[in-house]
Amino acid sequence: MRIQFTEIDFTLRDNCELIAGWENDPSIRVLVVPQLPNGNTRPPVTVESVQERATRNTPDRIRVDLFIVDAVTHEKIGLCDLSVNHPQVITRGNKVAWLGLLIGNPSYRGKGVGKLAVAELERRSRELGCDFVEAGAFEYNLPSQRLFLSLGYEPIGDKGKIFFHEGRYWSDLRFGKRLLE
Ligand SMILES: CC(C)(COP(=O)(O)OP(=O)(O)OC[C@H]1O[C@@H](n2cnc3c(N)ncnc32)[C@H](O)[C@@H]1OP(=O)(O)O)[C@@H](O)C(=O)NCCC(=O)NCCS
Repeated sequence: MRIQFTEIDFTLRDNCELIAGWENDPSIRVLVVPQLPNGNTRPPVTVESVQERATRNTPDRIRVDLFIVDAVTHEKIGLCDLSVNHPQVITRGNKVAWLGLLIGNPSYRGKGVGKLAVAELERRSRELGCDFVEAGAFEYNLPSQRLFLSLGYEPIGDKGKIFFHEGRYWSDLRFGKRLLE
């Protein structure tokens, strides 16, 4: 599969609508937004809240947001991002990139696209001077865990059983990898 990555232009409404559509899809939302017994911990994503992401790229916390694009059809099929010094990370003592990934079009999942996207995020993290990458996967998100494990990530922590899903609590698992020169 031939894939390209393009920086997301958050000033274009079409881009923000596409992203909001993916992130509000209930089948995706359950994998990326923490849940509690009384519902999601965050309100639904709006076009405005997606547009606001452009302002989150600051000198203190550099952020890179990329569309994953089918290089043949030019369809935008998902997104991936990295943030340097994100408050979410549990890794200490390194310059850490926190990774995010979502393949919005389900027909592209399980075909190696996630692996290519993580490789691209690692390459950009290295360019930004990071020596470690960290990602989270909910305990019930087995495809996400398999993706990171297959790329040499190791389990580095577990924030405890804090998210509710299908009648019980599950962990927020963390995976990490040292970036070699
Ligand atoms: C999780 C996700 C990013 C994985 O990307 P992907 O392109 O489907 O993964 P890949 O095809 O690159 O596969 C990577 C590894 O994961 C495994 N995998 C992928 N999809 C899987 C599935 N549905 N079930 C089991 N394993 C799966 C593959 O077997 C592969 O391992 P291998 O090379 O050892 O065989 C993608 O499924 C997705 O976007 N899901 C919805 C949103 C989400 O969960 N985002 C991640 C939040 S942390």
